[in-house]
Formats: sequence, C-alpha cells, structure tokens
Amino acid sequence: MARILITSAIPYINGIKHLGNLVGSQLPADLFARYNRARGHEVMFICATDEHGTPAELAAAKAGKPVAEYCAEMHAVQAEIARGFRLSFDHFGRSSSERNHKLTQHFAGKLAENGLIREVVESQVYSVDDGRFLPDRYIEGTCPNCGYDSARGDQCDNCTKQLDPTDLINPHSTISGSTNLEVRETKHLYLMQRALKDKIAAWIDSKTDWPLLTTSIARKWLNDGDGLQDRGITRDLHWGIPVMKGDQPWPGMEGKVFYVWFDAPIEYIAGTAEWADANGKTDADWERWWRTDKGASDVTYYQFMGKDNVPFHTLSFPATILGSGEPWKMVDYLKSFNYLNYDGGQFSTSRGRGVFMDQALSILPADYWRWWLLSHAPESSDSEFTWENFQTSVNKDLADVLGNLVSRVTKFAKAKFGDVIPAGGSFGPQEAALIADLGARIRDYEGYMEAMEVRKAATELRAIWVIGNEYLQSAAPWTVVKTDPDQAQAMIRLSLNLIRIYAILSQPFIPDASAAMMAAMNSDDWTWPTDMPEAMRTLPAGHAFTVPDNLFRKITDEERADWQQRFAGIRS
Ligand code: 2FM
Ligand code: ZN
Repeated sequence: MARILITSAIPYINGIKHLGNLVGSQLPADLFARYNRARGHEVMFICATDEHGTPAELAAAKAGKPVAEYCAEMHAVQAEIARGFRLSFDHFGRSSSERNHKLTQHFAGKLAENGLIREVVESQVYSVDDGRFLPDRYIEGTCPNCGYDSARGDQCDNCTKQLDPTDLINPHSTISGSTNLEVRETKHLYLMQRALKDKIAAWIDSKTDWPLLTTSIARKWLNDGDGLQDRGITRDLHWGIPVMKGDQPWPGMEGKVFYVWFDAPIEYIAGTAEWADANGKTDADWERWWRTDKGASDVTYYQFMGKDNVPFHTLSFPATILGSGEPWKMVDYLKSFNYLNYDGGQFSTSRGRGVFMDQALSILPADYWRWWLLSHAPESSDSEFTWENFQTSVNKDLADVLGNLVSRVTKFAKAKFGDVIPAGGSFGPQEAALIADLGARIRDYEGYMEAMEVRKAATELRAIWVIGNEYLQSAAPWTVVKTDPDQAQAMIRLSLNLIRIYAILSQPFIPDASAAMMAAMNSDDWTWPTDMPEAMRTLPAGHAFTVPDNLFRKITDEERADWQQRFAGIRS
C-alpha cells in the first residue's frame, strides 16, 4: 500500500468558480484521489480557499461586509458546492487559518535565519484619506493614452496599455474616491530567490517524468530575460497574515502582511494540520505526510493546477521550502492543465459568461458534469465546452451506453428470472472472450489513471462500457432465452456481475451513478477487479438485486438551446 498526498490549487475565496477552474485542478485531483483510494492506497487529499489579498478585500467591500465575515461565508458556500460535485477532500481548509498563520510566519523566520530575506524600500501610492497604501488596481484615473476615464493603476481596460499608477491623469482611490494621493516610501521583505536558483534548477532538472507543459513553463521563468528574480513577499494590506519572524515581531514591519502568493501554497501543509485538528489527531499525524524526518519519505506527493499557477509551484513555493533548510516534503509530480474555453470564447466572471459551479448543479447532477469535463480535460491543449458536445456526450456515453446497459440487463433479469441472480448454465466462449478483453482493458485503464492521463482514462472506461454492450448485443439473452433458458441465465449472471464491476471502475468519474449501480446489485464489495474470472463470479446465483431508477436522462434539444442562451452572458 502506497501513501499518496494530493493537493489541488486552492481557489480564491471571492466568487464562485466556473467549470474551467474546476476541470483545471480540483476535479482531476479528485479523480486521482478516488482512484488511489479504490486501489487500497492511503490517500491524503487537501484543498482550501485562498483567502488573502486584494481581490478578497475588494469583494468583501463590494458585499458591504467585514472581510473576515465575507471569507467565512464564502468558504461555507464553496465547501457546499464542492460537496455537490462530490469532491472528496480529506479536508477543505482555509488559508486564513491559525495553522497557516503560524506556519507562514515559521517559514519566513527560517528564511530570515538562513540569510535569504532582504529589506527593500519602495515608492508606492498612499491614500491619505483611506490611511493606507493602495495596490495598483485600487487606483483609477484617466488613461494618458486613450483618455478613458476609468483606467486602473496597472492597466487601461479600454486600450489595454500597461500603466504605472503615476501615469494616470487625475488619479483617485477606488475605495473612497479620494484624490488626496501621494507617493510615499514603504519597506518590504524580498525573498532572495536568485540565491536559490541553482538548487531550484537542479531540482527541476531531476523531474524527468513531468509533463512538458509543466517543465517548459518552469524553465522559461527560470531562464528568460534576467531569470529568476528576488520577489516581494509582503504587502501593505490589513487583511492577511501579519509579518512575523517565527513567533517574534519583525521590527519595522508592523502593520504589514505576507503576500497572498507567499502564504497560499503553505496552506497545503497547514490544511493537513487543520485536518488533524478537525479529526482529533496529533501533530505527528499530519507531519508524517509532510516531514521527511517524520515519516513522509515514503509519501508520493502530487499537485494539480492550471498552467497559470505553474511558476508559483515550480519556483516560488520550492524556493520557500528549499530556503527553509528543513526537511519538508516537496512535490514529486506536478500535473498541470491548459484552459477550457466556453462556446467560442472564454469563460468570463465579470460578464457572467459560461457555466459556474453552482449553476451547473442547479440544472444537472454532478456526474453529468464530471463525465463531460474529465473526458474533455484540457491536457495537451486548450479545449472547449459547447452545448452540442455536452449533449452528445451525456446522451451517448452516459445514457445510451452505460445507462441503457444497466437498465436492459436488470429489467430483463427481473422479468424473466425474478429478483435474484439466476443459477442456470455456465460461461461459454463468448463470455470467456469478454472476460479476457475486459481484463486487458482494465490494465490499460489502470495505466492511464496512474499516469494521470485523464482523457485517455475516460476513453478507456467508455470502451469498457461499450464492450459490455457489444457482448449483450451479440449474446442476445432475450433471444437465447426462448431456446436455451439455462444459457440465457448464465449470460445474465455475467451481466449483473459486470454491472458491479462497472460501478467500481466508474466510481472515480461518476461516483453517484456508481453508488446507485452498486446499491442495485445489493453489494458493498468494492474490491478492485484484478482477478477477472473471480470478479465475474463475485455475485453468486441466488443473490438478490433490484432494478435501479434510470441512471441518466437525456438532454433534449430544447434544453440545450435554452441553456446556451441562458449562459451566454452579457456581451459588450
Ligand atoms: O489561481 C488561483 O486560483 C490561486 N488561488 C491558486 C493558489 S494555489 C496555491 F498556491 F495555493
Ligand atoms: Zn487607455
């Protein structure tokens, strides 16, 4: 039994994520966690909300709530949606937790001890009336390039020109509207990543089995232009983790907080400590996942994320860990994803374009989305959600292939042979061929799942469903029953066992339908089918079963058109 640590990129607290976000990290991480649990491995699967930083402050202000209250509410909302999608986190933590405060301060203290922090005095815009420094995007004014009067301090949304806040004409604070702004000096901490460049480069070079998408992004950031830069790890914000050197104050840094991207990945560790706290465990229980001196040397650690997150996980977070000089577990395999586009364009949060996680669940159950998203995961390139494609996948793969098989077999069995698995006949050459084919395909499926080849795994699973249908089609028990009822009984006995095996194999993709199939087979034996002939006999003659409700319904053309219209967003 292996020990497998899995983390998904932690979603920002502000707002509800769209399906593109879901398929880029949490959902494939869940698939992998479920698969590994099903294979009997010990899994720790951690996610959390990413609660600090400017966007969280802005969103809370917009909602008219204190930021801590806003974050607590939004965490509960996101946790509920995650449950709705059956994301099987062992813990869904919060980057604002006490555990993360302590660990983040601990890492900063270690980095300082190791001479890897320097103090830098910078000039930034200060709003006298707000009593605070303004990050660039809190400042608006007239664009010097196009005259647009709501250009932001970092960029003009009208002409896209990159700006410096001091370029703006008539700048004002977006918090208070005040124009009483001045440029002031402020001190920040910089993590000296350049000093760690060789270590990080050697570590990345050792990852010969990583996807090209991951290593090419890492190398680009490592070597492009001036290469790896030292980076500011503190901000002048109110909401965040106070800058401390371990548990000691940091002279000159009072009132400042760590930068959100410094504390967010540390939450992977802190989230595991939160899991321990929430489950009555000890520190040793979470440390055995993270400290190689305390049992984590036999852990394999997998991270899942969208491609935009790769630089932070291949360079910045490793710099924090390596720079600490402590024996923390580092990622063994980093699975990154391209983007999912929406119906000829991009998902857009601001324009409400595309399907967001809560909306998705309000129109169809989780399995429908899980199946489409995973079977179309943007692995080798960006992929696109279209309603036509979604309708086709659901209606064909789920309803026609899998749903239909389950319904035909169970209904026929009940009508002809009653409520228990029939005892007659024995498996012949057709059954032997199916069993052999199935065994080979299951081994391929395992290979794809272990390699995190999500689309290929989905294709293989679908093929596994298809061969069951083909078997039924050619064996035709409904015809055979008229001339050789014993043989028909053997066919049905095999087919009912097949349903149980499909439940086990399909569980990582479509857990609800799998549970329904297993329940209909009146079994809770989820043993992974390694010995095929054995697996095909698990449910014996005389074992009771039931006919489940339809597993999947079809999406009509009217619904498709309606949804396409409903989620098109406000186009400008
Ligand atoms: O891109 C995002 O949604 C970030 N909140 C991901 C952070 S991942 C990690 F660093 F914690
Ligand atoms: Zn402009």
